[in-house]
Amino acid sequence: LLWVWFCASAVCSASSRLTFHGHKVIQVQLETEEHVKLIKSMDRDFSIDFWRPDSPSRIAPKMTADFHIHANRTENVLHLLKQNNVQFEVLFHDLQAGIEAQRDSQRLRKSKKHSYIKYNDWETIADWTSNMATKHSDLVSRIEIGNTYEGRPMYVLKVGQSSTAGPAIFMDCGIHAREWISPAFCQWFVKELVSRYSKDEEVKNLLTNLTFYILPVLNIDGYIYTWTTDRMWRKNRSPTSDSNCFGTDLNRNFNISWCEIGSADIPCTEIYCGKSPASEEETKNVVNFILGHLDSVRAYISIHAYSQMLLYPYSYTDELAPNSQELDEISKGAVAELSSLYKTKYVYGPSASTIYPTSGSSDDWAYTQGIRYAFTFELRDRGKRGFLLPESQIRATCKETTLAIKYIANYVLSHS
Ligand code: ARG
Ligand code: ZN
Repeated sequence: LLWVWFCASAVCSASSRLTFHGHKVIQVQLETEEHVKLIKSMDRDFSIDFWRPDSPSRIAPKMTADFHIHANRTENVLHLLKQNNVQFEVLFHDLQAGIEAQRDSQRLRKSKKHSYIKYNDWETIADWTSNMATKHSDLVSRIEIGNTYEGRPMYVLKVGQSSTAGPAIFMDCGIHAREWISPAFCQWFVKELVSRYSKDEEVKNLLTNLTFYILPVLNIDGYIYTWTTDRMWRKNRSPTSDSNCFGTDLNRNFNISWCEIGSADIPCTEIYCGKSPASEEETKNVVNFILGHLDSVRAYISIHAYSQMLLYPYSYTDELAPNSQELDEISKGAVAELSSLYKTKYVYGPSASTIYPTSGSSDDWAYTQGIRYAFTFELRDRGKRGFLLPESQIRATCKETTLAIKYIANYVLSHS
């Protein structure tokens, strides 16, 4: 059991899969400073896996927090919460059951065949990128932008009529390994574009006049690790100066106010910024690709989960971005579109004050390169299934998010 916990806290390099029987995910309503202190001290004593916010350093009074605790800590933790009058709800009584419940799509359950309403493993997604480029060669081409730390090629799908000289939108999914709905969305969105092109005037207009660069999985090594070993993994898989701890948080590794607020210089934390700005292969490849396309890329969209938020710069400072009013207007419109389908509630605003401050994040970096339309989505849900959003919600989540992205794309097109 000790071994299992050590592995879950990132120490193991063994290839066997971790299980989470009896682990719990707890949602707490923090009211007072005492509550916050209690959670922080529990983190020191029991080493908690924070789901939301992403680090104990971010918790504050009047905040909801979700975290995952080991089975053999649950009794202690629940006792302390009750003793200190912290309101809480157990989101998962047995995390392993939650992991199994996530893959609830009936169709094609055991099959390795690609599906837009399933979570696909990396091999399946990689084959899919190749098939899309072959089958839809008039609209899609596949670009290799470099290799991950473990040596896997990273693919960007370029979608649009090849003659287009107009503006471009870059979108990445899967910076954080455990946010599985994110790569599922990128795949869905590519399908949406190519399958609607000949039937839908709006899509036709978009693909005639602009180019989408879509990176379906940015953190491939981490994503694979969530399939083979630890479903709760977040960072990439490169070694650090601490031989016990692997991985850099790629959304803290970009060269913008690097390793300052909302980030940590400690390799064993989930928000480790890496050894230097853009130290990681995955970061470098994205940076080089964007810098090579700065003349056309007008918008940068990063897809995460969960919280149901649409965020725009800045994240590293409370100052307002020069065009924050415009970004706010766009967000308002995009969220209205998104909610029109199933009434899903989203909040939007500057990242630092709406979710929490972070430095070294991809959206702020892109923005400071002159890409004035930079957004981060936090997709479903708001803390019920969290990272384990069931497959049965992929379709609805992707459909509503598609509306928001199309709204942003239309705006960018008519303002470039
Ligand atoms: N949840 C994401 C993360 O922790 C995004 C946080 C907001 N930061 C941002 N730059 N948009 O990396
Ligand atoms: Zn994330």
